Amino acid sequence: MTDKSEKKHFHHGKSSKDILDAEFVLNSIGLKKGDIFLDAGSGDGYMSLAASKIVGEKGKVYAVEIWEESINILEKEIKEQKIGNIESIIADISAKIPIDNAIIDICYMGNVLHGFVENEDYDNVMKEISRIIKLEGTFAVIEFKKIKNIPGPPFPVKMTPEEVEKIISDYGFEVKEVIEAGKYHYGVISVKK
Ligand SMILES: C[S@@+](CC[C@H](N)C(=O)[O-])C[C@H]1O[C@@H](n2cnc3c(N)ncnc32)[C@H](O)[C@@H]1O
Repeated sequence: MTDKSEKKHFHHGKSSKDILDAEFVLNSIGLKKGDIFLDAGSGDGYMSLAASKIVGEKGKVYAVEIWEESINILEKEIKEQKIGNIESIIADISAKIPIDNAIIDICYMGNVLHGFVENEDYDNVMKEISRIIKLEGTFAVIEFKKIKNIPGPPFPVKMTPEEVEKIISDYGFEVKEVIEAGKYHYGVISVKK
């Protein structure tokens, strides 16, 4: 019997903290002071912590993650550093993202989309992402380059920028550019139309 759970890609993966330069990535995707930023599938929230510095006190960062353990790591940092502009939320982004419609300037999804695609259950998550991003807002998908023998998911699970584009374009996103995000990563930067 091959039910869906058997073929599920186990996607509460490792933090990419050591192989992605958060500040470089956030600047490359155009994050700026005052923005409302969503880190979808934030893991331990290292990208959210870097984003919080850029958006400043007039901006806001939402870190949404399904694993309580990861959110606890971020919460500890928020307390220790007395950060006031990050809201961490434990939620399943493929069910309901507890954020109002069309309020996000930039949604960052780092090393997360391939898991949903592998499990063939990206429709809900894409609908939710599309719902919460403002018109003309940015959706930045960062993924591992589809190269053998580098970190990241198994080679067949890794996606090309064209595969990412094919999926997100069905949900109202128009690709603006594909960027070099790091040694092992690229980013597909798109705009909500
Ligand atoms: C490979 S990790 C990447 C974490 C982080 N974005 C990074 O780059 O370090 C994938 C993350 O997506 C989270 N995730 C997977 N499915 C999710 C879901 N349905 N809702 C919320 N988070 C989810 C996992 O728990 C995990 O933290």
